[in-house]
Amino acid sequence: MTKTPSPIAVLISGSGSNLQALLDAAETGDLGCDIAVVISDRSGVGGLDRAARADVPTEVVAWSAFATRAAFTDAVCDAAQRWGAGGMVLAGFMRILAPSAMERFPNAIINLHPALLPSFPGARAVEQALEHGVSLTGVTVHFVDEQVDHGPIIAQEAVAVLPDDDAETLHARIQNVEHTLLPTCVAAFARGDLVVEGRHVRWRQTPIAARSQ
Ligand code: GAR
Repeated sequence: MTKTPSPIAVLISGSGSNLQALLDAAETGDLGCDIAVVISDRSGVGGLDRAARADVPTEVVAWSAFATRAAFTDAVCDAAQRWGAGGMVLAGFMRILAPSAMERFPNAIINLHPALLPSFPGARAVEQALEHGVSLTGVTVHFVDEQVDHGPIIAQEAVAVLPDDDAETLHARIQNVEHTLLPTCVAAFARGDLVVEGRHVRWRQTPIAARSQ
């Protein structure tokens, strides 16, 4: 008998265009799992409206309401588990979770980052790529570990930096890539196709690079 994949919680902080890509993939069945809940660290963001339009439950766990990162993290994990989530996807979530999250969701927290890690970790990845003068940046999807933007890499895709790019134009092309790469990785996770071996993530079936050929 095939095991039914656990639903996921999607964590957001903003407009939620990546959440929308996940909602769309869930709607068509391509995500391979349900989105149990969308959790935001602040109220009034566009992603909460996107979730509501898709009839997905939402919770606001306000960063400002907690004295410590540990307490905030506990509340986020409590909310995710209350809705039955077996994994969490950080889709434009701009907070760092305490290590207790990794203990509660071992190898089951996925983060999206708008650069080719380990280059340009942190909150200003697109701006830093431009400031540094690289000609290639991109997207990284990785499992979360105790260090910021550091865990085992699930997939990366490059995006060229064009001579006239500013942060807005470059981020728009990066987001186009994110909207395909993130659902692809989450679907592989839901199928149980991602095997973490130290810093390496092995895809049990066709790796992404081979799929587009
Ligand atoms: C995304 O581009 C994501 O890569 C970035 O925030 C954006 C959220 O957009 N995440 C980070 O910078 C995390 N360090 P969205 O709300 O439209 O999905």
